[in-house]
Amino acid sequence: MTTAMGTLVVERVETMQRVCRQTRWNARLGLVPTMGALHEGHLSLIRAARRECDVVAVSVFVNPAQFGRNEDFERYPRTFEADCALLEREGVDMVFAPSSAEMYPRGMGQVMVDVPEVGARLDGRARQGHFRGVATVVAKLLHIVGPDAAFFGQKDAAQVAVLKAMVAELNFPVRMVVCPTVRESDGLAMSSRNRNLSAEERKQALGLWHALVAVHALVDGGMVDAGRLRRELVGALQAAPGVEMEYAEIVSAETLLPLEEVRDGALVAVAARVGSTRLIDNIVLPGRAR
Ligand code: PAF
Repeated sequence: MTTAMGTLVVERVETMQRVCRQTRWNARLGLVPTMGALHEGHLSLIRAARRECDVVAVSVFVNPAQFGRNEDFERYPRTFEADCALLEREGVDMVFAPSSAEMYPRGMGQVMVDVPEVGARLDGRARQGHFRGVATVVAKLLHIVGPDAAFFGQKDAAQVAVLKAMVAELNFPVRMVVCPTVRESDGLAMSSRNRNLSAEERKQALGLWHALVAVHALVDGGMVDAGRLRRELVGALQAAPGVEMEYAEIVSAETLLPLEEVRDGALVAVAARVGSTRLIDNIVLPGRAR
């Protein structure tokens, strides 16, 4: 199906494979994988893809394989009509929106891509099996679309580490492009799950950002001991009203292993529940302080 403004909407894997194969002959193809409920963060990925590629494909698929049994698969926001209108306005060339049956015709779990070490850290520790689901669906999307470049948000820093490891290890000929986290004017990281926050919870959710800013200030002031910085981070999250901390770590952005001292590119990552909504955020630290 093609929309009024010329965006091709594809539901079948076979059709997507055929169209992408034809496209790749003479155009650089960019893929932005999403689960829909699009916001400015996704639009920044799409604009980056537009700058770097001739043809932009966006996938919209709420992937059941990456949700645990007691997680928010049912509650995950689904706004397909509004997403398509946004994607048309952005001049996206193709939207790939398969059903679960189309993506997993033999049922989920028949073949899974596991990144056992990196994938067991941060969100992978908190959400067992989550990154197996993410790696599996992204591997499938990369096979179906065959893009020159794929675009992901820095907000999902652990996901980025897992997918970079997968792409390197499985020799996918794709360039992984990571775009900065997009924030509301008060600092809250944009997330599809923010839609599930009440007005009160929306205010409380800022506790994550404030804790990260506090650690950044300490590093700017010369503190490099990751253990001390982490204690400050945990303290700030525990003191934040309405914020129930899940993890707070200072790790290598590549391996997600804890650091003893912060260095250039160290990742400060937090996850917390605000009401019944799980939120994550992170910052990448500048090099060793003065
Ligand atoms: O970041 C997301 O929205 C999802 O994890 C992704 C990469 C689209 C895979 O389902």
